[in-house]
Amino acid sequence: MIYPKLEFPKLNKRPFFYTNFVTTIDGKAQVLHPDPNPYWPMGSSVDFDTLLDLRARADVLVHGRNTVGGVIKRTDEERFKQKRIYYQKPKPLIYVVVTSHPDDSLVEYLTDSKTRHIVATTGEAEVSEKLSAVADIVRLGKNKVDIRKLSKYLFNKGYKEVLVEGGPHLLGDFIKENLIDEVFLTIAPKIIGGEIGKTITMVEGNLRPPDKVMNLEIIEMHQVENEVFLRYRVNH
Ligand SMILES: NC(=O)c1ccc[n+]([C@@H]2O[C@H](COP(=O)([O-])OP(=O)(O)OC[C@H]3O[C@@H](n4cnc5c(N)ncnc54)[C@H](OP(=O)(O)O)[C@@H]3O)[C@@H](O)[C@H]2O)c1
Repeated sequence: MIYPKLEFPKLNKRPFFYTNFVTTIDGKAQVLHPDPNPYWPMGSSVDFDTLLDLRARADVLVHGRNTVGGVIKRTDEERFKQKRIYYQKPKPLIYVVVTSHPDDSLVEYLTDSKTRHIVATTGEAEVSEKLSAVADIVRLGKNKVDIRKLSKYLFNKGYKEVLVEGGPHLLGDFIKENLIDEVFLTIAPKIIGGEIGKTITMVEGNLRPPDKVMNLEIIEMHQVENEVFLRYRVNH
């Protein structure tokens, strides 16, 4: 276990937000490639286990539309249940999908017989009865989800520790609002290279002005074979 003692500060006005990414040495978080993507996974099995640990430690997991996958299926696996017990999280992990276009392809990823998960969307978005039947639809913004409102909504529901796994565009929106407190980053010992429009980095869609560059301090680092696991705290 890379991070056996994961303690996070309790904030009194909003949840504590943390993110987890794997990138290559040359800073790529993904190669834009149709599935099955031969570049994925970028990290090792230790990185994947760390991803599960960081999920198991959260009250809520947030994904942007293009990162949605089989999260709920995984929470049912014995391995995940054991991690949840280890972190003393008796309540189920809540899965939040952020999208302005909540179509029915989300239904299979949000259907859960035990827990109602959440679609965070806009006032303008059309939502089918089929999707509303399986998930809570929360409207937080006119034509884009307002991340500050999402933070407030989650806090008011009592969620204190929120993992924003991305992808890069959603993380860009959180970073724009200064709503990331820790970054867990795995450096996979690979160089992929790139061509314009074919790769993405950890944060996309928002360039911070030079006087607002986010500064972080390293609070943990671990090496397993040639992979490095870094934990950074944001200096707000
Ligand atoms: N290396 C890693 O650790 C890592 C981690 C996560 C993801 N990834 C990879 O990153 C790729 C996806 O990247 P991405 O940046 O395109 O993904 P993303 O951030 O998951 O999805 C972007 C989409 O999410 C919705 N969205 C994001 N912010 C929104 C907001 N404020 N309001 C409303 N909708 C919002 C929009 O969807 P709509 O158009 O539907 O509104 C937007 O097009 C995937 O291949 C994934 O595997 C890699």
